[in-house]
Amino acid sequence: MNLQTYLLAKFKAALVAIGAPEDSPAPLSRSTRAGFGHYQFNGAMALSKVLKQKPRDIADKIVAAVEFTDEVEKLEVAGPGFINIHLSPAWLAKQLKQANADERLLIEAESAQTVVVDYSSPNLAKEMHVGHLRTTIIGDAVVKTLEFLGHKVLRQNHMGDWGTQFGMLITHLNDKLAADSAAETALSDLEDFYRAAKVRFDDEDGFADRARENVVKLQSGDPECIVLWKTFVDVSIKHSEEVYKKLNVSLKREHIMGESAYNDDLAPTVAELKQKGIVVEDQGAQVAFLQELADKEGNPAVYIVQKSGGGYLYATTDLAAIRYRNNVLKADRTLILTDARQALHFKQTEIVARKAGFIKPEQSYEHCPFGMMLGNDGKPFKTRTGGTVKLAELLDEAVERAAVLINKRESDLTADEREVIANKVGIGAVKYADLSKNRTTDYIFNWDTMLSFEGNTAPYLQYAYTRIQSIFRKAGVNAEALQADMQLQAEQELVLAVKLLQYVEAIKQVSSDGTPHVLCTYIYELASFFMSFYEACPILKDGIDEPTKNSRLMLAQLTAKTLKSGLELLGIETMEKM
Ligand code: ARG
Repeated sequence: MNLQTYLLAKFKAALVAIGAPEDSPAPLSRSTRAGFGHYQFNGAMALSKVLKQKPRDIADKIVAAVEFTDEVEKLEVAGPGFINIHLSPAWLAKQLKQANADERLLIEAESAQTVVVDYSSPNLAKEMHVGHLRTTIIGDAVVKTLEFLGHKVLRQNHMGDWGTQFGMLITHLNDKLAADSAAETALSDLEDFYRAAKVRFDDEDGFADRARENVVKLQSGDPECIVLWKTFVDVSIKHSEEVYKKLNVSLKREHIMGESAYNDDLAPTVAELKQKGIVVEDQGAQVAFLQELADKEGNPAVYIVQKSGGGYLYATTDLAAIRYRNNVLKADRTLILTDARQALHFKQTEIVARKAGFIKPEQSYEHCPFGMMLGNDGKPFKTRTGGTVKLAELLDEAVERAAVLINKRESDLTADEREVIANKVGIGAVKYADLSKNRTTDYIFNWDTMLSFEGNTAPYLQYAYTRIQSIFRKAGVNAEALQADMQLQAEQELVLAVKLLQYVEAIKQVSSDGTPHVLCTYIYELASFFMSFYEACPILKDGIDEPTKNSRLMLAQLTAKTLKSGLELLGIETMEKM
């Protein structure tokens, strides 16, 4: 049940009934203030000109025309012509009971699309650093939400496993292996390895030439170079996989479709662009001039797809990837998650790809940009000595810090249980702190805030969930088996009830806009509404009659299920006790 679309359909029918044009705007939204009903329909004002009537009169007519049976308690016209919709407690109670009995919480699948989601996509020359946290976890939350809504999702890990720096890396690796070092040992720290290779490249006689030769050999498929490259890439992928495991994200090897996979399609892609007249030769390079993105003086933006020496670029690979995703994978939608600094690149890429027909008009191509993770000083997040923070180390620190907090709490948990909980809380805290911010802005990474048991944090939400579980343990009832009628009497019950039914609205927004923070806000409000309800409407106190108690237990049960489902979509684990 989607309250919003359900009500909207009724109001749209009413508009037709009062003679409004077919495509009249029908704005229906959640009320933001208590006392203004649960939803508001604000379509009367815009119709005033068209129908040549006063907005309030139109609102009255809509109210008379809209057909409800038992859904609504009252409709009231307010202000210049707002219609406040107050849902009926009895009807809401019926919906909640049904939702509680349904595994999917009564959320219907959307008409399925094939959605390609390009996320994580680290560069394999180095180890994953904090810059890859956002793409990895925001992408994973979006992917899970799309799947929950019934879409066919194709994860694409567009790893940076190709390009000139691999010439330098495999040359250095070749020498290490020749000196009898095992690959795993040589590559145990990719940062060190990269640094050493770079020093040799800059300073050592002959090394740079060998590295350049190896790039050419690698790109033409020389077997020895390919073996070295595969060895390097394989170890680097293993490093990423360790991070994925720690983060509990759903990316697997089969989702890797790195830049190298498009190598053979780069020349045909450029050839097609040439043939269609979208790129032209300019000083030996193949270039698209984009008048759409011209500067103030009218000079078109320059988008290079092949360098004068014949080399290809990041852009060329992205165009080839579009062809593959649209022709072979048959994507209806492609979402790409990278930081905001790449926004112009994707804008240009889309323009070129659409001109070339690589993207059909009905297909969408959406770059979902995000801001940076900053330290407490408001500058890009760095180690104390100014280095990049390795993601794996950051996550280990999160778990250690969570363990300290968990061990401070009074409880009868065993050491093993505490360890599991510390892991879920630590990782959950890092993920949630990031996911809960609007992705388009920068945010400050702060251990103390994210690990707090108060406020909009993972620990608070995980705690809210365990609190409900403990209510059930104390009540001695099996929550799953509970089948009672629900009654919504107190204001807090009603507010919680409506919130519960709005879960679907939150996740639909995540799926359409790629914005997990909307779901975070929803879950946080839900947990807070539950806490207020529980304070005002005791469940376990003596003297509460059985039907009231059972109805409240059902509300608690549906809250727990919704919290768990939402946190699962965000990739955050829950536990029964903490
Ligand atoms: N490897 C790139 C980076 O680390 C991100 C790739 C994103 N995907 C793409 N199709 N360009 O910045």
